[in-house]
Amino acid sequence: MSQTVLILGAASDIGIAIAEKFAANAFDIQLAARKSDRLSSLQSDLKIKYNINCTIHEFDATDFSSHLTFWNILPVKPAITISVIGYMNDNEKVIKSQEETLKTINSNYTGLVSILNIIGEDYAKQQSGVIAGISSVAGLRGRQSNYIYGSAKAGFIAYLSGLRNRLFHHKVHVLTVLPGFVYTKMTEDLNLPKLLTAQPVDVADTVYKGILKKKNKIYVKWFWRWIMMIITNIPEFIFKRKKL
Ligand SMILES: NC(=O)c1ccc[n+]([C@@H]2O[C@H](COP(=O)([O-])OP(=O)(O)OC[C@H]3O[C@@H](n4cnc5c(N)ncnc54)[C@H](OP(=O)(O)O)[C@@H]3O)[C@@H](O)[C@H]2O)c1
Repeated sequence: MSQTVLILGAASDIGIAIAEKFAANAFDIQLAARKSDRLSSLQSDLKIKYNINCTIHEFDATDFSSHLTFWNILPVKPAITISVIGYMNDNEKVIKSQEETLKTINSNYTGLVSILNIIGEDYAKQQSGVIAGISSVAGLRGRQSNYIYGSAKAGFIAYLSGLRNRLFHHKVHVLTVLPGFVYTKMTEDLNLPKLLTAQPVDVADTVYKGILKKKNKIYVKWFWRWIMMIITNIPEFIFKRKKL
């Protein structure tokens, strides 16, 4: 029997690449997103191309009160849940607006904790399941250009670490994914360095391999591990003087 993968944030460029990767490997797919109607062409493409089951579900990470019902009414409980949801705006705009600040925190942290707590408890009860969360290298050290998004991603990294520790004892696997730069809608206005930037399909391959190999924490491009090792080891008295 084929396994089902739930993708939270399935309309994202990375979410679409992940759906394609799992569908190509004969997994059934549940696509969850806001304004989920727009996913119907992706749904029919995946069904036709790969002969799998694919369903669409309405999901808003910041509509906290809907989360329990969202999970309870899924027609099939997925064996694998992957959270791709994220939101990033210019940090200077974010810090000047309480609304933008809370949106950034809720979309990258609180909303995901709210739904993954529910899913994690169900997986613990059934003693099986996989949860993968896409965080970011931005969560490994706060920088002046990105610290509201970065701190929410940091919270998500710590959450996934704790969840992994708790659920390990219930035979549930938790994977933390740490992309560096990726060419997507989120970064289309940024001038990204070509050599350091991945494509959504690279993230999808990393997630797929990470789940199969039961990895705990993975970078998308290997060199980001070393870049972040340098960045996180710069002494604070030097770091605070940099314009990063
Ligand atoms: N691109 C990069 O360089 C990069 C680097 C590191 C990490 N990441 C992470 O990778 C993940 C995917 O991002 P992406 O680059 O593929 O960008 P993206 O296309 O902008 O995807 C972000 C997705 O999150 C969804 N989302 C935001 N708030 C939501 C909410 N309240 N409820 C439900 N869905 C919500 C968006 O939905 P809508 O379509 O409805 O707006 C969008 O589909 C994110 O977690 C991002 O932080 C990206």
